[in-house]
Amino acid sequence: MSELDSFDNFFRLDGKVALVTGGSRGLGLHAATAFLRAGARTVFITARKADGEQGINQAVDKLNALPGIKGKAIGLAANVAQEKDIERLLAEIKQTESELHILVANAGATWGGPFETTPDWANQKVLDLNVRGVFNIVKIFLPLLGKAGTPQDPARVIVVSSTAGINVPHVGEHGTIMYSASKAAAHHLARNLAVELGPKNITTNTIAPGFFPSKLASGLIEILGGEKELKDANPRRRLGVPEDIAGAMLYLAGPAAAYV
Ligand SMILES: NC(=O)c1ccc[n+]([C@@H]2O[C@H](COP(=O)([O-])OP(=O)(O)OC[C@H]3O[C@@H](n4cnc5c(N)ncnc54)[C@H](OP(=O)(O)O)[C@@H]3O)[C@@H](O)[C@H]2O)c1
Repeated sequence: MSELDSFDNFFRLDGKVALVTGGSRGLGLHAATAFLRAGARTVFITARKADGEQGINQAVDKLNALPGIKGKAIGLAANVAQEKDIERLLAEIKQTESELHILVANAGATWGGPFETTPDWANQKVLDLNVRGVFNIVKIFLPLLGKAGTPQDPARVIVVSSTAGINVPHVGEHGTIMYSASKAAAHHLARNLAVELGPKNITTNTIAPGFFPSKLASGLIEILGGEKELKDANPRRRLGVPEDIAGAMLYLAGPAAAYV
């Protein structure tokens, strides 16, 4: 027999404070849901839009109505592609919290189309959010992450990248070249952060999802032949479902992944 001291808490987040960017829908909302269900004390979600069907407020209402949760969700609107907005977000969170245990840099932007006619503004938008935005939010929240991390239980940075950062998914008419390059940069940024911040008791990991139906992905899924085509091309013969991303997030955020 071996002593697995923290085994019962491997996937628990009791008392933890998390911030999920792009938490109003899609993958970010799945992560926020998992964190609250695992006992997190406060889950901040951020996105640009507060109101409407896809805004933060409706997501916060849904999260706080989850049965059996002990913690709460708080929504704060911010554009995390902009340094000033991230600084404002930090100031707002500091009003109630002095530590941040989990930072999920999930908000992302994509653009698809032919290489030759890609407008520069589209490249800028993709890089500002998927690369500079990730760098800046980690940098700006470093004091709060540093306070939260301990040698036994480090603070966590989880960067949501994409399989597009590992392979060359789409070129030609529906090319996503700068998206793919931005996600490759996100992977390497996370590797650098892991080495830079590890000694400060902050781990950094990357999640690289394949296709999950969402506002960001659904247009591309249709263009590429629809769900059936993409399912057939996938070794598991299906697309991602919320549980898939929730499970990976929970593992990386909790005690089970303290040395990952
Ligand atoms: N779904 C997939 O198949 C898939 C596959 C691989 C990787 N990913 C990655 O997963 C992440 C989430 O994608 P998703 O599919 O869940 O997309 P989604 O459903 O479109 O959600 C994107 C979220 O990010 C927020 N957001 C967008 N721009 C923002 C900004 N500048 N500042 C703050 N929040 C912003 C959106 O809210 P507002 O619009 O209100 O700001 C929304 O909450 C992205 O990084 C994406 O690249 C997704």
